[in-house]
Amino acid sequence: MAFGHSLKNACDFALLALCILAGNDLAFAEDAPAVGARDRVSLNAGWRFQRWTDKPDSVSYSTMKPWIMPSANDFIKNTAKRARRPSSEPANVTFAQPDFDDKAWELVDVPHDWAVKRPFYAGANAVIGGDMGRLPIHGVGWYRRAIQLDATDSGKSLLLDIDGAMSYAMVWLNGRFVGGWPYGYASFRLDLTPYARSGNNQLAIRVDNAMESSRFYPGAGIYRNVWLTKVSQQHVAYDGTWITSGQVSDQSATLDLVTIIENLSTASSATEIEVSTDIHVWDAASGKAAAKVGQFPSVKIAVDGGAKHTVNASTTLQNPRLWGPRPLQEPNLYIAMTRLQSGGRTLDEYHTRFGIRAVQYTGDGIKINGQRVYIQGVNQHHDLGSLGAAFNVRAAERQLEMLQDMGCNAVRTSHNPPSRELLDLADELGILIMDEIFDTWNSQKRRNDFHLIFSDWHEPDLRAFIRRDRNHPSVVIWSFGNEVAEQRARNGAATAQSLKDIVREEDPTRYTTVGSNNAGPNDAFTGVADIIGLNYQGEGRGTGAATFPDFRAKFPSKMILSTESSSGISTRGTYIFPVTTSNSITVSDSQGGDPRNRYVSAYELYAVSWGASPEKVFAAQDRYPYVAGEFVWTGWDYLGEPTPYDLSRSSYFGIIDLAGFPKDRFYLYQSRWNPTVKMAHILPHWNWPNRTGQVTPVHVFSSGDQAELFLNGVSQGVQKKAISSGSYRFRWDRVVYQPGELQVVTYKDGNLWANATMRTTGEPSGLHGSTYRDRKTIKADGADLLFISIAVVDQKGDVVRQSNNAITFSVQGPGEIVTTDNGDPTDMVAFPSPERKAFGGLALAIVRAKAGSSGKITVTASAKGLVSAEVVLEALS
Ligand code: GAL
Repeated sequence: MAFGHSLKNACDFALLALCILAGNDLAFAEDAPAVGARDRVSLNAGWRFQRWTDKPDSVSYSTMKPWIMPSANDFIKNTAKRARRPSSEPANVTFAQPDFDDKAWELVDVPHDWAVKRPFYAGANAVIGGDMGRLPIHGVGWYRRAIQLDATDSGKSLLLDIDGAMSYAMVWLNGRFVGGWPYGYASFRLDLTPYARSGNNQLAIRVDNAMESSRFYPGAGIYRNVWLTKVSQQHVAYDGTWITSGQVSDQSATLDLVTIIENLSTASSATEIEVSTDIHVWDAASGKAAAKVGQFPSVKIAVDGGAKHTVNASTTLQNPRLWGPRPLQEPNLYIAMTRLQSGGRTLDEYHTRFGIRAVQYTGDGIKINGQRVYIQGVNQHHDLGSLGAAFNVRAAERQLEMLQDMGCNAVRTSHNPPSRELLDLADELGILIMDEIFDTWNSQKRRNDFHLIFSDWHEPDLRAFIRRDRNHPSVVIWSFGNEVAEQRARNGAATAQSLKDIVREEDPTRYTTVGSNNAGPNDAFTGVADIIGLNYQGEGRGTGAATFPDFRAKFPSKMILSTESSSGISTRGTYIFPVTTSNSITVSDSQGGDPRNRYVSAYELYAVSWGASPEKVFAAQDRYPYVAGEFVWTGWDYLGEPTPYDLSRSSYFGIIDLAGFPKDRFYLYQSRWNPTVKMAHILPHWNWPNRTGQVTPVHVFSSGDQAELFLNGVSQGVQKKAISSGSYRFRWDRVVYQPGELQVVTYKDGNLWANATMRTTGEPSGLHGSTYRDRKTIKADGADLLFISIAVVDQKGDVVRQSNNAITFSVQGPGEIVTTDNGDPTDMVAFPSPERKAFGGLALAIVRAKAGSSGKITVTASAKGLVSAEVVLEALS
């Protein structure tokens, strides 16, 4: 979401009708009439797209590099190192030419991920293997789109903002090369003005995605928003404001505002500009600015053509409403409205949403507004399950909401910059963010990853990333690396230091970290970042491994944080026998793993060899309370990295599966992280016709401290939670299976707390549909999504947890199924398929309303021999 800019979500085709000016080349005079405030137009709709797996053109990054590097100049500090555009132009490229006929190309809207809707690659020698999600992310993609400009655009700067294109993006306008940006996770701006003309303009964007470029699913294509900003030549620069709060208390807050004004005019004369900024409360309910509560003193400056000018202003706000993470605090926000005026004309209006909070990083954890906040965080990759990398606000919001229901209060954006909108959501929901930029530096993890361009691009990428994200109150930690090979290399500490220096230059207010899995307390690398960020180290990895006290002894006053913890693995609803009696064990084919079906037991005791069960991590945290908290690997399952079964398509690490169905682990985390929720959760399901008479352990996750389990009314014993011996669950390991009903009654402090039951079900008899958070209306804006869950139920309405009936989805009315899923990491049916087998009794359909049409949408789920389910929605246009 962008704030307060005059937003037009529809594509600018509407302007076409206004445009009768024939292609006057560069009809953008210096002394143009007043142009008013900025206009930020979405360019998301109506692209022509084509992809090739062989080389379709003569373009390559290495030959285009001299023309691409100048795009980075604003983010390179040493002016001598900035590139100058060569005097000659690069060779013409057919696909970039205005007269190229692209009618046969596919019509797509962005955000677009060309790979996610295609069939999966199966097998051991797949073109794209398990690590990258078995989807065809590789190849060259071209996107072409017309932009109409008319007389009112004359004299303006025309700025193309690409929020994310995977990867090696290159941009042409009217056949002429504009610039580019290789890192696929970066957001960047290019100035189209010198290449634009009134009338029809042809924009062409090329992306190039290599195989072996990532350890997880990267997505492919223009997978985030694209905007055209039309604004006076004198305007607030790209991500050109920065608001920090110095002294913060409930009584007052001092605010410092930096505004960078840029004058893109080629005239040598200076423009006199008055810069003023008002502060308004941000009203979360309406999503708009509310009452004005303060202002920064206005400043008059003169900015030469082609120059930039930095304006500093400070003010004090009385009785500020502070931003803080939920549930301990409230995420209050403000919005700063900056106006540039000259000779009575408004040149630009630019809005910056921000929050006021004080953060202290201590040897005993992080304090927000004076209060210790234990980090109950998760790692999240950027994909949105079956939607792939194509960003969607509603899908991301659902991910965060479910995490928050679990008691999660923090997200690490592993291992790359998230979308802008994800940070907006975190600001609004009150979720702390550890904002991370790189998975590799100079040394590779994969043949074609970021190490290829690290030396040229780490500085501009890092500076652009921080300037983009530093107004978000949710961002409390910058991470400039993850498990980089440099941890123990000779120059590793020096590289880390140079990256940290860049971060601290761009933002001295926040602390930095790096996720380290093998730099020990005595490695020079470890001391560089402000926060000791540990991946798996410390939580009890095994004999000889460094522990939290080792790091504490060496760095007594530094904050120590588990930047990655646990890496527990499981497949939702799958229980494998026998069950280990340990509370944490490495998965293997004979222990917790089922290599034939490629599933991992959901008793939630199994982890990868470098990880630990959730409970083992909890125990280490309870032993060493100075640790600031953890980011569990991972909150949601993600595409790629299907450890331990590489033939699968998606991960086993998630607490929530790829479709959004919580695994049992969800309730274990909830019992610790959200302890006021009265809950009890029983596992496994109780349909074991072949286990009658056999030992079938029953485990319960609950925020209570005592529990009694009954099987068919017979007590299986009372248990107290044995936290001191490292068990954060109740476990009855000697229960002998007989069909019927399990019931658990839990207590807290001697009082009844919560009950749960699990019954042996009958045969599947029908399907039952429900919507996420019971929402039944959907905005017909082409972007909003509704998530429909289908459960296979018996006659009593109990979910038949082991059923896998084939379900067919259909839609009547102005809606469509975007994708379906079931969270099964081995399901190789392409995501858009309306046919999806239930997995663990559940399946998901993601529905969108057709843009602009309102009315009733009926989604029907049917399966052979079962009563169908119907979910009726209303599309609102
Ligand atoms: C870590 C790594 C993550 C992920 C995880 C799986 O070592 O940083 O990206 O691969 O392991 O356990």
